[in-house]
Amino acid sequence: MCAAMVRGYFITLEGGEGAGKSTQAVLLAEKIKASGRDVVRTREPGGSPGAEAIRALLVNGATDRWSPISETLLMYAARRDHIERVIAPALVRGAVVVCDRYADSTRAYQGAGGGAPYALINALEESVLGDVRPHLTLIFELPSAVGLARAKARAGGEGRFEAKDITFHERLRAAFLNIAHNEPERCVLIDGQPDSGSVAEMVWRVVAPRLGLA
Ligand code: TMP
Repeated sequence: MCAAMVRGYFITLEGGEGAGKSTQAVLLAEKIKASGRDVVRTREPGGSPGAEAIRALLVNGATDRWSPISETLLMYAARRDHIERVIAPALVRGAVVVCDRYADSTRAYQGAGGGAPYALINALEESVLGDVRPHLTLIFELPSAVGLARAKARAGGEGRFEAKDITFHERLRAAFLNIAHNEPERCVLIDGQPDSGSVAEMVWRVVAPRLGLA
């Protein structure tokens, strides 16, 4: 995809487990739609039929089912399919794409959490993402123990990453904070602790002006 062809706007939501980003992705996409903009809400790993099939391999089973490098490659296989079939076409036609997790999750989970080499992750970002990079990334932030307790209280069987120990989750929380610190133009930290209505208001205060809706 050529950058000059892109008329859309790409928003990603990132953070650790139980940070509330999936709820916020739904609320945000509804508000954008209500404003009359074309919006595509999607998620990773997943978001296209092929990538959802890979997701099932990634989020189920024993915590040590994949090595960090194998996991990184599976994430990127899923991501490439998602980009080609969903994200890039939506951006080219001018839609706002709201994506629940993207490349920063690989840096945090597989890189900082799992120890996959950053040289590999950097090379994949370069060759697989190309210029399909978020315009805006909202990083939902809260203490790892609070998020994990929330995530475990939730029904659902996709617990492979949740089951990793607290030090893993603390490493990835630090990685997200680091990403936010290093890329202040792209990233905005959002406190994930208040009730979802208050968080949604904070999110809208960040997003609306960037979409010209303030
Ligand atoms: P979700 O629970 O937000 O739907 O995400 C599924 C799990 O996948 C979550 O535990 C984080 C993990 N994940 C990675 O480890 N690396 C990635 O690149 C992505 C997108 C997700």
